[in-house]
Amino acid sequence: MSNTDVRVNRPARQEWWADAVVYQIYPRSFADGNGDGMGDLRGVTERLPYLQQLGVDAIWLSPFYKSPQADGGYDVADYRQVDPLFGSLETFDAMLQEAHQRGLKVIVDLVPNHTSDEHVWFQEALASPPGSPERARYMFRPGKDDVPGSGDGNLAPNNWKSIFGGPAWSRITEADGSPGEWYLHLFDTKQPDLNWENAEVHEEMRSVLRFWLDRGVDGFRVDVAHGLIKEPGLPDWESVAAMVEGTPEVSREAAHRPGDAPGAHTDAEEPHRAVSPVYPPSPFFDQDGVHDVYRDWHSVLAGYDGDRMMVAEAWVEPAERLARYTRPDEMQQAFNFDFLLAGWDAERMAESIEASLAAASSVGAPCTWVLSNHDTVRHTTRFGLKDPTTFPKGLGGDDEQPDPALGLARARAATLISLALPGSAYLYQGEELGLPEHTTLPAGARQDPTFFRTRGAEIGRDGCRVPLPWTAELPGYGFSITRDGETSQPWLPQPDSFGPLAADQQEGVEGSTLELYRAALAFRAARRLGAGSVGWAEIHAPDSGVLAFHNGDILVLGNLGFASAPVPEGYSVVLSSGPEPAAEWAGMREVPVDCAVYLAKD
Ligand code: GLC
Repeated sequence: MSNTDVRVNRPARQEWWADAVVYQIYPRSFADGNGDGMGDLRGVTERLPYLQQLGVDAIWLSPFYKSPQADGGYDVADYRQVDPLFGSLETFDAMLQEAHQRGLKVIVDLVPNHTSDEHVWFQEALASPPGSPERARYMFRPGKDDVPGSGDGNLAPNNWKSIFGGPAWSRITEADGSPGEWYLHLFDTKQPDLNWENAEVHEEMRSVLRFWLDRGVDGFRVDVAHGLIKEPGLPDWESVAAMVEGTPEVSREAAHRPGDAPGAHTDAEEPHRAVSPVYPPSPFFDQDGVHDVYRDWHSVLAGYDGDRMMVAEAWVEPAERLARYTRPDEMQQAFNFDFLLAGWDAERMAESIEASLAAASSVGAPCTWVLSNHDTVRHTTRFGLKDPTTFPKGLGGDDEQPDPALGLARARAATLISLALPGSAYLYQGEELGLPEHTTLPAGARQDPTFFRTRGAEIGRDGCRVPLPWTAELPGYGFSITRDGETSQPWLPQPDSFGPLAADQQEGVEGSTLELYRAALAFRAARRLGAGSVGWAEIHAPDSGVLAFHNGDILVLGNLGFASAPVPEGYSVVLSSGPEPAAEWAGMREVPVDCAVYLAKD
């Protein structure tokens, strides 16, 4: 790994997305423009100047479509409407126009694997008989034992488990009141999987793409991109047995969400751990057939001007499998979760950088770098846990609590490392403020279906979705922007630690995380680091915690070890993730542990 000959180059590409920094907005929690305690599109528009000043190139909005919000909007009831919680199509258009005027591209989320159970198609399916075209848009099956004379259909069609815990099948009640067929939901009962063997489904999703492309969006983040196609015959998943054996005791009081999906009487009868983030090969993920879908969509996007793009959310490994989603006639990018999972571990990080650059480059695609998103514990918190390679799926009050100072120092350093790598970087709202996970949310405030479906055995993702703090002195830390002063409580309570981290407390303050992000993004843009190519430096020594690479004439040194690392002769620090003032950088001859620096030749 310390081979200095290793050069990992990315192909030169001209498209805007190839080296873009994309800021993820989780609309419920970014900014509330109407004072109801829930973030919305008007709030996004009002905060666009902040994002422009931050120095990002694009925003990606998690779903804001009409939805009963059983999974924070990833349960879409109407793909062509804005949920009234967030505004209207007019508010969306105004936001898009304003973003474009400010030079920001806009990526929207596309959720093709499943709809909401409140989508008109699912309602039609429930009202129609087995075998009807309405049922054929979803994955309906008879019970495994529904064979004449051998049973009454009480057994689910196979043993698949939901990613959120519990079985992946629910049985419906037919229109005549009799116990009926089962439908597949890889996620919540309120998220029935679409049948991607059905031509109507393909046509509909192409039309949804065109709907948003016609409005002017620059791209799509494709939700569960690895999930659309299921193995023919829907065979049992062998790993399930092992997974159930590994199920921990439920440590928290069993919890049930009031009003959980109608007809979902099979759910959460036994607590199951939700499925691991990178799944072992399964009959429902990363099937070869998904690529036909993306080739098709590629041609839809190619019919539009302006380098429209798609980025895949595909939790697959190894890097070569992920790269298949970004072949020249498929998507433009895929989230590099391997890097996110590498933790604060120099060897793993170095391996991940090398493998992901090589794989992306083999298909001519730019790599992406992600440290946090709305599904993962914020990296400020992950890196503050005792085991720096830990990847918890949510943290609660009964779990190990992070060391906030350690976590923040490492998070800032990891950010500098990732922003110096070639390709595209994805930031999750609030990471530029150094926000930690909210680890002590009360059970009564939790909303993530994972929490309910595992009966609290998995705490869920609410802790990274807490409304942002903008102004320390205002109620709700200024999350709600109102003109008459009346505001509701933010939809999730914010921890006290958010006060000092509010944007107004960091703005213009030397050494603050916000100013570090601004400086790093400006540096990255000025030196075109995203369009560069990297090679390991001579001092690269991941086995002793030193990660070091050249990008053009910049040398990046991340100290993930246990002793300070010398600044090589002939170089000076031009940007540091540490707390020391900028005036001291040039004199630094040592890089402390848990710090990363950019070095330039003297
Ligand atoms: C993706 C989303 C996640 C959602 C799931 C189901 O993983 O990122 O938030 O719960 O898909 O749509």
